[in-house]
Amino acid sequence: MPKEMLPIVNKPLVQYGVEEALAAGMSNIGFVTGRGKRAITDHFDISYELEHQIAGTNKESYLQEIRGVLGQATFMSTRQTEMKGLGHAILTGEPLMGDEPFGVVLSDDLCICDGDGVLTQMAKIYEKHGCSVVAVQQVPRQSLSAYGVIEGVELSPGLYRVDSMVEKPDPQDAPSDLAIIGRYILTPDIFDILRTTAPGKSGEIQITDALLQQAKKGRVLACQFKGRRFDCGSVPGFVEATNFIYEHVYQTPE
Ligand code: G1P
Repeated sequence: MPKEMLPIVNKPLVQYGVEEALAAGMSNIGFVTGRGKRAITDHFDISYELEHQIAGTNKESYLQEIRGVLGQATFMSTRQTEMKGLGHAILTGEPLMGDEPFGVVLSDDLCICDGDGVLTQMAKIYEKHGCSVVAVQQVPRQSLSAYGVIEGVELSPGLYRVDSMVEKPDPQDAPSDLAIIGRYILTPDIFDILRTTAPGKSGEIQITDALLQQAKKGRVLACQFKGRRFDCGSVPGFVEATNFIYEHVYQTPE
């Protein structure tokens, strides 16, 4: 099963990501999928057999949430045939995005906020400054080697101009304790940069390396977002997210 389809309480991770994007006003949703991930695109489609079977029963209300999502957006997808890194995956999505700024959600990073979602917080920064935006959070120094890490200047509380960034540094070499999490707003010039970005850490084409080129021109901001993030790619994060959503977010259907 694709990890993006793992359910947190009552819906798959990818749906939380899509709902966050919709709440930020993004209604053209593109999935970069790959072999064995067809369940993702099927999830955002009518399930005729299921609907037929439960229509008119007391379970019909369960369909409302996904129908609501379907009605608010268009869904497109393309497949990444080689696993060459996040930068390569984003470049693979270029035909879906065209020449416009766009958001990126890595749905195994599940973010829950009291007010605006993370992408909404970032979109507001984009609207004001018109450049790429990454989401960051402080992480313990020993964990920094799992992330892209920024070096920047705090312009206002929680908003940084990024001067440099490095993918998965050794903790002692990390330029700060601000780690990039799986949310990006990217300006479309990133595609030309990605086309010429050489493989970096782990031999993969890294979005961090491409963003560094924009950062050198003062074109990247970092948003230390307000909210919680769960790394659902790890078992402890997955369990923590499940407990948190069940206790604080999930509402029993009537
Ligand atoms: C990717 C990025 C990394 C970022 C992380 C956030 O790494 O390359 O810069 O900090 O996502 O989740 P991955 O987790 O795919 O190794």
